[in-house]
Amino acid sequence: MEKGQANKIAAIILAAGQGTRMRSEIPKVLHKVAGRYLVRHVIDQCQGAGLDKIIIVIGHQGEQVQEALGQEFLYAWQREQLGTGHAVLQTEEFLNDVEDVLVVCGDTPLLTKATLGNLIKRHRETEAACTILTTNLADPTGYGRIIRNEQGNVVKIVEQKDASEAELAVREINSGTYCFKTGVLREMLHKIKPDNKQGEYYLTDVVSLCRENKLRVEAYLTTDSEEVMGINSRVQLAEAEKVFRKRINTYWLENGVTIIDPENTYIESEVRIGPDTVIHPYTFLQGKTTIGKGCEIGPASTIKDSKLADYNVVANSIILESEIGSRCTIGPFSYLRPGCKLGDQVKIGDFVELKKTTVKDGSKIPHLSYVGDAQVGSKVNIGAGTITCNYDGEKKWPTIIADSVFIGSNSNLVAPVSIHEGAYVAAGSTITSDVPAEALGIARGRQVNIPDWVKKRKKQKERK
Ligand code: UD1
Ligand code: CA
Repeated sequence: MEKGQANKIAAIILAAGQGTRMRSEIPKVLHKVAGRYLVRHVIDQCQGAGLDKIIIVIGHQGEQVQEALGQEFLYAWQREQLGTGHAVLQTEEFLNDVEDVLVVCGDTPLLTKATLGNLIKRHRETEAACTILTTNLADPTGYGRIIRNEQGNVVKIVEQKDASEAELAVREINSGTYCFKTGVLREMLHKIKPDNKQGEYYLTDVVSLCRENKLRVEAYLTTDSEEVMGINSRVQLAEAEKVFRKRINTYWLENGVTIIDPENTYIESEVRIGPDTVIHPYTFLQGKTTIGKGCEIGPASTIKDSKLADYNVVANSIILESEIGSRCTIGPFSYLRPGCKLGDQVKIGDFVELKKTTVKDGSKIPHLSYVGDAQVGSKVNIGAGTITCNYDGEKKWPTIIADSVFIGSNSNLVAPVSIHEGAYVAAGSTITSDVPAEALGIARGRQVNIPDWVKKRKKQKERK
């Protein structure tokens, strides 16, 4: 590489394989762990390690992978899966301005940016042609083995299927993550041949070719063998989920969040939580959820793609795609469907369902209500059993409830309808037209008491 050019390094992510052992219609790299695609975790860590040029090799169900990940990356097609060496070769057109490449598999979601960074650093410091990320495994079955000479230098990688008895006994394995000098890699990739048990073009053969050409090969041995775990089956997917859960929960524990039972608390990787928030067991925090400080969340609650400010209490409830102010109490057993927006000090109580509804500061919907497509002002009290009848069988209609309104229990508000500021609705009313400000809306049959009705009935029966 000429002087003056930046030390440009690109990541090549291999994601063309089928992943037969998942037994799935979904491409392997699009299975999720901690709420994110396997390959997305790999991309995140590459970006975290400072790699801005990301080339993804796609093949099997490639359109689906490309669509899921979007257009911010470069894609190289491998139409036939002829091996890892052949896969990397398909990226050639993107490598002209690149000094080094990091090759990583799309199914190793546990790799961290720290380890990738260390691998790149070792590669640069030693000026090696190739640097391999390796680890020692108690059971190396299935992996390529790292073969070293008497001086301890790496001479080649032997695949399980091609290995001798002695080679099979080696416990140092190839993680499938490497750095290469781009020029060397391109030259060697054109030389590799599929003369092995699997008839594939092995990327790993670049290592022995480098040695034959007296080029330096380095290994960066990590002791954290958990990181290099590839996902080939659902059993491994579940194991990875567990590792992520532990990593994520430990991170939050170290950053001021109390998690009562970390093994039974499920926080996805994009969630953010403020200090002094307490999370009770069987709580699922998903998607792009943000929780402020001093909140009390759970038990048994699901919050997805929602934003909660500070000092809220949420128990046994579900909140989806909604925004909550501060000092609200939600639950037990509330269900906030997408599009809700609560102000501060709002109370949503037991067995209340809200949909696409705004509730302003200090209002209360304490029990057994359905409020949908509604705008509720501040300091409103909605009595138990109130229903907004928002659907006429064809269309949805809005209900407007202004500030300081009081809705008596068991009322039906037939939308479109407005209850103006400070108005009262008598309990048990079915309101079909607007109630003016400060008025009482009452819409129910008047009560009639029939004196001595019971006595009269008894007598009637006796006569028969
Ligand atoms: C590979 C390594 C092995 C290493 C192991 C680590 C080779 C020859 N062997 O073996 O030394 O221990 O990874 O997990 O490289 N892929 C393609 N196109 C292909 C073939 C594979 O994109 O034609 C992708 C797969 O989707 C996968 C990755 O490359 O993401 C690894 O392929 P896989 O078949 O799993 O390689 P292994 O046999 O596990
Ligand atoms: Ca593999």
